[in-house]
Amino acid sequence: MNSPVLQSERLCFHPWDPEDFPLLAVLHGDREVQHFLQMGDPPWDEPYLRAKFHGFLADYEAHGWTKFKVTDKDGIFLGRAGFGCFGPTGELELGYSFKRPLWGRGYATEAAAALLAWIYRVEPVDHVIGFAVAEHGASRRVLEKAGMSFTGIRDVDGIPNAFYRHDRPA
Ligand SMILES: CC(C)(COP(=O)(O)OP(=O)(O)OC[C@H]1O[C@@H](n2cnc3c(N)ncnc32)[C@H](O)[C@@H]1OP(=O)(O)O)[C@@H](O)C(=O)NCCC(=O)NCCS
Repeated sequence: MNSPVLQSERLCFHPWDPEDFPLLAVLHGDREVQHFLQMGDPPWDEPYLRAKFHGFLADYEAHGWTKFKVTDKDGIFLGRAGFGCFGPTGELELGYSFKRPLWGRGYATEAAAALLAWIYRVEPVDHVIGFAVAEHGASRRVLEKAGMSFTGIRDVDGIPNAFYRHDRPA
């Protein structure tokens, strides 16, 4: 496995290896994980997920950030968390998904805090955004606990999403 780019108290953030695709397929093959990600759309099929995975590899290659593979300190796969480019505005977007049995342990909050502290060291952006389907209470709570400010409800693909912003610390 690639060395972690970043570590927090319990988590390691790794670039993906090309052979890691099955980990992502298992994560996103879970209906509960997908609930707020597909919002009535058909399940993500393999070509769609492979395109996402190749995007994660390409983002890391090009920028040094991506939606990283997240493991525990023993290398056990937990989920993914990191940054992508939000197409409509080009802003850097924080995102995360963890395996269902691991929810409620504070992993997403720990990941968000570590990633937000790290990104300004490696990328000259003045802010980062995050968003979640408006009714997705858990994800909104994670963004709030990570210190992001609510900026309003905007449609993404016709679905109301709550947007948040985090500014580069002075
Ligand atoms: C959203 C997700 C990443 C949260 O991960 P997690 O590790 O369980 O999050 P944390 O434990 O750090 O924090 C969750 C917080 O939300 C709260 N919460 C949980 N369900 C909630 C709900 N329905 N409404 C409001 N708050 C809720 C928890 O109580 C906790 O807050 P607290 O620490 O103040 O008690 C996880 O549920 C997930 O992977 N979901 C599937 C993929 C997904 O939806 N990703 C986000 C896309 S925007």
